[in-house]
Amino acid sequence: MRIVLLGAPGSGKGTQAKKLMAERGVPQNSTGDMLREAVAAGTRFGQKAKAIMEAGELVPDDIMLGVISERLGQSDASEGFILDGFPRTRQQALDLEELLDQLGTPLDAAVLMDVDFDILMKRLTGRRTCSLTGKLLNIYFSSPEELDECTSAGGELVQREDDNEETIRKRLNVYRRQTEPLIRFYQQRGRLKAIDAEGPIDEVYGRLLEALG
Ligand code: AP5
Repeated sequence: MRIVLLGAPGSGKGTQAKKLMAERGVPQNSTGDMLREAVAAGTRFGQKAKAIMEAGELVPDDIMLGVISERLGQSDASEGFILDGFPRTRQQALDLEELLDQLGTPLDAAVLMDVDFDILMKRLTGRRTCSLTGKLLNIYFSSPEELDECTSAGGELVQREDDNEETIRKRLNVYRRQTEPLIRFYQQRGRLKAIDAEGPIDEVYGRLLEALG
């Protein structure tokens, strides 16, 4: 399985990619997570990326191509991959196409996770990560039991720096301007599959599996 998950911030790309990885063993590659690891490690690159991410802007294409080429060049990627958060611009999509051609591993599908913009804001302002397990949670959508499981074990519900209303608006605008045109890009290549990504997480997962055949 070689797929791209395409969708606005908060559409559930990370949530569904983690489920696919856990249940099907296909490695998830989240460029957002890779960048946050670089930020946490405090590298020079991480410091630059931090400022860009906190402003809700995109890290330059050439840098992202370097990050993703290195990842897809690793041996486990030849078995399949889920790209979560890449590509995000037309240039990145073209670069990915060329890279996969060179590796001889063309993309099976780009799955568009379709969610209404009002719901995205609620999902993003409510998103928390459990500091103990790394589990993605939501103060509006997760059950009290799921939230308790983290806090009663001594974990904290951590909010991402870029999940404040002002930065979320910026990220959604950047998505509309720079990433949404990729819907057409993959449609033209006959690779686009769109799913309704609203409703309970397990139902969305069922639709994703159905779309992937
Ligand atoms: P990144 O980390 O990729 O953020 P994003 O695209 O903004 O996506 P999110 O992680 O916010 O959302 P998601 O779709 O994964 O949703 P999730 O599953 O978490 O990128 C961050 C930054 O890094 C970018 O702004 C940019 O600066 C930089 N960057 C990254 N990649 C780049 C690239 N290729 N080029 C340039 N720059 C790049 O779900 C959200 C919440 O909703 C969670 O709380 C979850 O529990 C909940 N939820 C999920 N599904 C459901 C459901 N069905 N019902 C109810 N709640 C749900």
